[in-house]
Amino acid sequence: MIAIGSDHGGFELKEEIKTYLTEKGYVVKDFGVQREMSVDYPDIAHPVCMAVLKGEYERGILVCGTGIGISIAANKIPGIRAALCGNCYSARMAKQHNNANIITLGGRVTGTDLAKEIVDAWLETKFEGGRHQTRVDKIHGLENK
Ligand code: RB5
Repeated sequence: MIAIGSDHGGFELKEEIKTYLTEKGYVVKDFGVQREMSVDYPDIAHPVCMAVLKGEYERGILVCGTGIGISIAANKIPGIRAALCGNCYSARMAKQHNNANIITLGGRVTGTDLAKEIVDAWLETKFEGGRHQTRVDKIHGLENK
């Protein structure tokens, strides 16, 4: 169960990834934008992140033009660990070490085929826990400082 969303800059890539994952058998809920209309990426990041935090979806995928704005917005929400990934190694590590519950991509930066591989790498990786759990706990400790 995956939540997905994008602004206009990420719309095309979001559509491609949604189709790709649906064909692979994932249940994908699209939080918009529904067509290539201008929207403010925090307005998309928020519902996707809340749905993940509520446990309605296991993970979330967010796309904007660069992946930067939407990751900054998502990381403002306590409990969210959003990782902007442009390569498969980072995507694996984002899960294995950082337990990223959101991955963000740049629709104007990352090609479709690479983006699919990045998403696969992230979805197929498990969190290692142990010392990384300590570090993730410390990340969330910062939310209260
Ligand atoms: C929208 O033009 C663009 O600023 C947005 O998609 C994203 O790249 C921001 O970080």
